Amino acid sequence: MRFAKVTQRLAGLGSEKWAVHIEGRRRADLGEPMIFLSIGEPDAPPPAAIFDVAERQMRAGRTRYSNGRGEPDVLRALSRLYTERTGRSISTSQFLFLPGTQTALYVAMMVLVELGDEVLMADPYYATYEGVIAAAGGVAVPVRVDPDHGFHLKAAALEKAITPKTRVLLMNTPSNPTGAVFTREEIARIGKVCEQHDLWIICDEVYASLTYGNTVFASPFDRAELEKRTVVVSSVSKSHAMPGFRCGWIASSEEFCAAALPVSETMLFGSQPFLEDATAFALDNHFPEVDAMKHAYERRAQVLVEGLRASKTVSARMPEGGMFVMVDVRKTGLSGRAFAERLLAEENVVTMPGESFGAGGAGHLRVALTVDESQIAEACRRIARLADRLC
Ligand SMILES: Cc1ncc(COP(=O)(O)O)c(C=O)c1O
Repeated sequence: MRFAKVTQRLAGLGSEKWAVHIEGRRRADLGEPMIFLSIGEPDAPPPAAIFDVAERQMRAGRTRYSNGRGEPDVLRALSRLYTERTGRSISTSQFLFLPGTQTALYVAMMVLVELGDEVLMADPYYATYEGVIAAAGGVAVPVRVDPDHGFHLKAAALEKAITPKTRVLLMNTPSNPTGAVFTREEIARIGKVCEQHDLWIICDEVYASLTYGNTVFASPFDRAELEKRTVVVSSVSKSHAMPGFRCGWIASSEEFCAAALPVSETMLFGSQPFLEDATAFALDNHFPEVDAMKHAYERRAQVLVEGLRASKTVSARMPEGGMFVMVDVRKTGLSGRAFAERLLAEENVVTMPGESFGAGGAGHLRVALTVDESQIAEACRRIARLADRLC
């Protein structure tokens, strides 16, 4: 039987990237003790009060069909949040509630990208971006960012990559995998380039609440002049450790949301009202557990950077945000992939090769900050030990 071409475009886009993780899992299943630093899944549970709301609302009958935009309560919570954040009035019709950032990205691509359209993205980039662009028939155009300058995307490099077919810039701040966070000034410069070339900006802000030290989160959506060309995609997956709830959204112009609504309706026929209620509650309230999670990620990143400081061959910079640290193994002479494979084979530590996130990640490992400080410190000892053996 014949399948549509989209299946060919997406085939093989995933498995290679996860080979080290899959082998680590296989060995763990055989009973070998492993340190897993490969998956960006929050290790803490969601705040207990959010569970209570989800359960109560489910039992109260909030289990009927919703609608393609989302329930009034969650749209009101989003409107309040973004109005506060941007300092402008952001109406409830500027949002679509969707099952997670990934679905929001999918909807955004379907609405903006046609066959052959080019989508720019900083390289290294999040593992699903190539797939979500290819699903819409677009062509991913990676723009290399320099690891020695904190993996920050430069407006000049972006401009060089623009062709008559370029339609969208896909941004991610804070970045997975690099931990780079765009500054306000960078966004202003990049926004100008997008205005000059009439590009859309899709901004993946799933880690927006996780910034460290003096880093301040900034978004193109916060700039009034960029509002109409920006589509924010985000969720409570990371901020509130709720990835399995699949609760996310699009924030954009009313015009974009109206155009995207039929896509959301035909794909989903609405989300689950009791989960939308839980998301509204999550967004409307402050939780000490959420502060504690952010603090834990920051401390773990510090432990990791500190743990590798004495090594002459491997190093890591403090991320500006997100849940990951890039470990630079270039001086060992191995690729990130080869180093990750040996680290798994010889030291029972599971990481993601930087190359899994594009050529720009070459010579690096991506380490997830989702285990406790003692395991991070132990992983550092093993990474440094392997590096010493190699040099
Ligand atoms: C950069 C980035 N975007 C999107 C997602 C998916 O998020 P969600 O659970 O909201 O679909 C992830 C998950 O790891 C991510 O790292």
